[in-house]
Amino acid sequence: MDSMEVNKAAAAVLVAGIVFMVASLISDNLVKPVELKTSAIKIEGVGAPAAAPAAAKPVALPPIGPFLAKASAAAGEADVKKLCAACHTFNEGGHAGVGPNLYGVVGGPHAHMQGFNYSDAIKGKKGDWTFDALNEWLHSPSTYAPGTRMGFAGISSEKERADVIAYLNSNSAKPLPLPK
Ligand code: HEC
Repeated sequence: MDSMEVNKAAAAVLVAGIVFMVASLISDNLVKPVELKTSAIKIEGVGAPAAAPAAAKPVALPPIGPFLAKASAAAGEADVKKLCAACHTFNEGGHAGVGPNLYGVVGGPHAHMQGFNYSDAIKGKKGDWTFDALNEWLHSPSTYAPGTRMGFAGISSEKERADVIAYLNSNSAKPLPLPK
């Protein structure tokens, strides 16, 4: 090996070192890792604890009173024939079907029909079937009474619920006064 060869080898090592240094300098500048403030993948119940109680709050329905004031019992009767008659009768003394007879249910207690095999979800409810209680029930039976046997998803329209409640109320020996 003459000195020329030794020089070449030394130069090669030197150049390789410089290239490596420059390359790592450039790559350090190109790739800047960003610290995530929140986890990129949201996992229920992990992190952001402040959001959890808000999500658990029940949906607040708009008050049904103003809708009841303008409600149509006749429209409600048509709705009920379409939506409820597969499971309920409405005439006084009517028989139970899949669900109880609903004559006079408004203002009556929960589980109002004698002898009907209600779920514990309905039997456990305190108080009477007020307009507000029926509003929540008909909006989402399974939210109002988790575990209920009423297999009905609910009525999303405020107007339609008000019409149905107005009809149920009129279908009684002692209708309650509707809000003005
Ligand atoms: C698929 C059958 C089914 C349909 C459809 C249905 N219901 Fe029911 N309903 C039931 C059953 C079953 C119960 C008893 C629930 C329980 O015990 O958990 C019930 C209970 C009720 C109660 C409570 C009665 C009481 O004595 O406490 C009301 C009020 C009621 N339904 C109204 C309606 C209205 C109004 C509709 C239509 C918009 C409707 N249901 C549609 C099956 C049904």
